[in-house]
Amino acid sequence: MEEAPLVIVKLGGSVITRKSDEARTRAKVLRRLAEELCGPGAPRLIVLHGAGSFGHPGAVRWHLAEAPPPQGDPHRTRGAAIVSAEVRRLHGEVVKELVDAGGRPVSVPVAGVATNRAGKLGGLDTGPFRRWLSAGFTPVSFGDVVLDDRWGCSILSADTIALELARAFHPERVLFVSDVMGVLGPPIRGKRPVVAELSPEVVNSLSPTVGAPDVTGGIRGKAEAMLAIAGIGTLAGLISGLSDGALSRAIRGEAVYGSWAKAAAR
Ligand code: IPE
Repeated sequence: MEEAPLVIVKLGGSVITRKSDEARTRAKVLRRLAEELCGPGAPRLIVLHGAGSFGHPGAVRWHLAEAPPPQGDPHRTRGAAIVSAEVRRLHGEVVKELVDAGGRPVSVPVAGVATNRAGKLGGLDTGPFRRWLSAGFTPVSFGDVVLDDRWGCSILSADTIALELARAFHPERVLFVSDVMGVLGPPIRGKRPVVAELSPEVVNSLSPTVGAPDVTGGIRGKAEAMLAIAGIGTLAGLISGLSDGALSRAIRGEAVYGSWAKAAAR
């Protein structure tokens, strides 16, 4: 029997949390996005989310996305434990919203199944995602602190998890949901337009990080992940989570305003 289509959605930390010193969710936005994900006729899903103000400030403070100094850093493990606890607090809220919206989410943290090597993904066992999906659940994971076989521990972004899961499951599409309308290109008469179709040239022109503290590469890192996903034959889109109904249309395969990386032939 043909399996029902699968869509991978990553809710960016920028759209589900407030950019403030204090870690807080955007409760109304998170609730609406959960309802859009669980609405009637929604496809099979894997849901991922970022860390936003629950993760990045701590990751910056304790240098978790960098190599520790040669003499070691006595604060690294303590800092990593705090960040790990904070992202789990956010994760609890996301899973709860999906339950309240009528979904069948189940938490699949990557800390138990992924290892980094010098800050880059070393390996991710996708077996738990596959098994929970087959049992009729929506696996929910998040950007996390993971073991690093060179640095002790480091950060794994949900953007990277999305790419790895796309390699394993060949979903219909991967959607990145953000607080912006898309990837903004170089300015034309003082304004930066949304780039409808991503290309390597556009992505190379982007600066690595803008705005809030972001240890995982900001919009450029995301755009690179989108091109890599397109390269393996899966359509990838970056859409706004602040426009009502956009996510719900995009998971059903409708063309939604944003930036898209078209799938290469499989
Ligand atoms: C970051 O994950 C994880 C931590 C900082 C612990 P993401 O890269 O997926 O998060 P956002 O979407 O940028 O907030």
